[in-house]
Amino acid sequence: EAPGDLAGLRVVVSAGGTREPIDPVRFIGNRSSGRQGVAVALAAADRGADVVLVAAHVDEGVLAEASTRPTVRVVGAGTADELGAAVETEATGADVVVMAAAVADYRVAEVSPLKRSKDAAPEGGITLDLVENPDILAGLVRRRRDGQTIVGFAAETPGDGETLLDRGRRKAARKGTDLLAVNEVGWTRGFESADNAVTVIDAAGEVVAARRGSKRDVADALWDAVLAVRQNGAN
Ligand code: C5P
Repeated sequence: EAPGDLAGLRVVVSAGGTREPIDPVRFIGNRSSGRQGVAVALAAADRGADVVLVAAHVDEGVLAEASTRPTVRVVGAGTADELGAAVETEATGADVVVMAAAVADYRVAEVSPLKRSKDAAPEGGITLDLVENPDILAGLVRRRRDGQTIVGFAAETPGDGETLLDRGRRKAARKGTDLLAVNEVGWTRGFESADNAVTVIDAAGEVVAARRGSKRDVADALWDAVLAVRQNGAN
C-alpha cells in the first residue's frame, strides 16, 4: 500500500444490506451495517481512486464519514432491485467493482400496498411467497469489459464438513469473480463489529491475501490484492 497507488482508478463499491418490503411498514433485512463496504470505499478514496459508493441501508454514522469526501459519490439504494440497477449503471464506467453489500437472495412475491392485517390472515400462521432476486455480481461478471476487475464478498457460516475456504472456492468458481473476499460470520462474528478476518481468493481459487484486523486494514489488503491481479494482467 502506497499513497496514491489507486490514482486514476474509477471504482464502484456497494455496501450495506438491502431491505425487501413486505408491506409499507415491514421488510426482510439482514444484519449488515455497511462498515466493511464503506471501509473499502474510503480506503480507495484515500489511495487516490474516484469512488462511487452504492449504499443500501448503511448505518447512519458509518455513512456520514463517506458523505463528506470530495472523491466519494454516494448513491442510495433500498432493495436488491434498486441496488442492481444503480450498480449496473455505475459499473459501465468503472475499472473495479466491489460488491460488499449484503444483497437479499429473495424478495417478497407480492408486496402488499396496504399494511397486512392479522384480521385477514389465517389463524396460527401465514406463509410468505418469495421469489429469487437476480445475482448482481454474476451479471457484472457476464458483462465484464477487458481490464475491468470484479470483486465479491462471501459471508459464510462454515459447517456440514466444509471449511470456509472450500465454500469460498466453490462460490468463486460459480460466480466467476476475479477476487472473492471470504469472511466468517455467525451470531457473534463479522457483523456490527469493528474487526473482521478475511481471506481473499483469486479466480483460480488461490489464496492471494489473508488479513485479520480492523475493517480498514482488511480493505487495504483487498486493494493491494486488486492491484496485484491487475498488474498480473489477469484482469
Ligand atoms: O451467494 P452469496 O449471496 O453468498 O454471494 C455474495 C456476493 O454476491 C456478495 O458480493 C454480494 O454482494 C453478491 N450478491 C449479488 N446479488 C445477489 C446476491 C449476492 O450481487 N442477489
